[in-house]
Amino acid sequence: MTDLIRIVYISRATFPISAANDGIEPTVARILSTSRTNNRKNGLVGMLYYGDGCFFQCLEGETSKVQALYKTLLKDPRHKDLKVLASEPIKRLSFPDWSMKYVPVDGHMLRLLEEHGFETFDPYRFDHHLVERVMQLLQGVPDPTIPVVEARASAPARTVLAASAPLAETQQAAPDGSAKLSLAISTVALVISLIALTVALDLL
Ligand SMILES: Cc1cc2nc3c(=O)[nH]c(=O)nc-3n(C[C@H](O)[C@H](O)[C@H](O)COP(=O)(O)O)c2cc1C
Repeated sequence: MTDLIRIVYISRATFPISAANDGIEPTVARILSTSRTNNRKNGLVGMLYYGDGCFFQCLEGETSKVQALYKTLLKDPRHKDLKVLASEPIKRLSFPDWSMKYVPVDGHMLRLLEEHGFETFDPYRFDHHLVERVMQLLQGVPDPTIPVVEARASAPARTVLAASAPLAETQQAAPDGSAKLSLAISTVALVISLIALTVALDLL
């Protein structure tokens, strides 16, 4: 059975916070693009949050691959002050469909921070409970940077998971709440495409 691990770490961006708050910061977009390509190749999955100049990232996959990536991350000049908040063995990947899910600042996060007396996203001051709450929030929020269908189609990690887990575990990895939501969104997208096609054919 493959040896799987999850790490959660935080860091501070070294690039200036962009004044434009519409859309994704260009440096973050480049990081995401590289991460998605590399992580797919390496069977890694993860989530990345960026807000107020801080990163919060969760990475899961084979222990040796995650550790190798973390060594690379330590040398990346686009961030500094890396601090591991959690590192633990896991039985299965928590979000096998995401080579790197990106979650931008949104109302849910702002409310959570406010509930805990934070005016900005400052993960260096989070306690264990708040780290857990942030993780839960990141798992539940959709990623606006990538169509759900694409995310589901490009998930070799699911193969790694199925091949490495005993049957009982594989069965337990059946759709959870977010997978059902993804399925519902995919279905709505499909229906909208069919309607658009019908209208286009009518116009011809
Ligand atoms: C906050 C942050 C998160 C990153 N996450 C990943 C990641 O999940 N996977 C990855 O391959 N690279 C990630 N990177 C980029 C790596 O540090 C490194 O630049 C990249 O892996 C090099 O890839 P290349 O050899 O294909 O150029 C991240 C960088 C930063 C600053």
